[in-house]
Amino acid sequence: MKHLVIANWKMNPVSTEDAIRLAKEEDMRDVIIAPPSFHMPSVRAVIKRGALCAQDIDPIDALSGPYTGAISPLLFKKMGVRYAIIGHSERRAHLGETDDSIAKKVHTALTAGIIPVLCVGETSEVRAGGYMNARDFVLRQIERDLDLVRGGVGKLIIAYEPVWAISTNNNDGGVIDDSESAGEMIQNIKAFLAESMKLWAQYKIVGLYGGSVGVNNIGMFLKERSIDGFLVGGASLRAKEFKKIVEIIHS
Ligand code: 13P
Repeated sequence: MKHLVIANWKMNPVSTEDAIRLAKEEDMRDVIIAPPSFHMPSVRAVIKRGALCAQDIDPIDALSGPYTGAISPLLFKKMGVRYAIIGHSERRAHLGETDDSIAKKVHTALTAGIIPVLCVGETSEVRAGGYMNARDFVLRQIERDLDLVRGGVGKLIIAYEPVWAISTNNNDGGVIDDSESAGEMIQNIKAFLAESMKLWAQYKIVGLYGGSVGVNNIGMFLKERSIDGFLVGGASLRAKEFKKIVEIIHS
């Protein structure tokens, strides 16, 4: 299977012109671009090879209606968007996202035919308690976030993003996860979901790693067989570096 690469631009760039420029540079096969929603129509207009991902969705089960401020997965789908990031740790930390709201979003996305990219990961405090502590925390998150889609079928993308590793790569070191423990965590996640008792065994699971992926460390993460792809934040705003990362992944 080819590695999947998602460029999570987060709340960047500010201008539509810059978003269009970046989209044109990063428009490659097997690359999925997740721009801010307000740039989505402009980015969609210039994308020819890649696919599109929302950075969040609202758990609304309708294409239109009296839902002030909402963007439903059906609306994104109509815009040509195939994926949606759900439960990113930045939304959990700053925007009141909870496992309950995330579970509703995952359910609504799957019902609408949008592939959820569920983000999970432990904080540094949790990790300080050791790897097993972090693993239990992550599996509990998954259990709660997938609570409403038990027994279903389809594709689920789970992105393991240790909170303490996010936004730390300045190409000059940074606090990155060691690839072996990242690979082991994703392996644990897959094993947990494959247990038939857990009722998620019918889903096709794709496991991504995110957290300061850059041109300086992609090689070591690529060696981990359990990692099916990457969710790239900061480096996806630097087109030259991002293209290099994609080139290494697909070489
Ligand atoms: P960075 O690559 O900037 O650490 O961000 C990772 C991330 O949060 C992707 O969703």
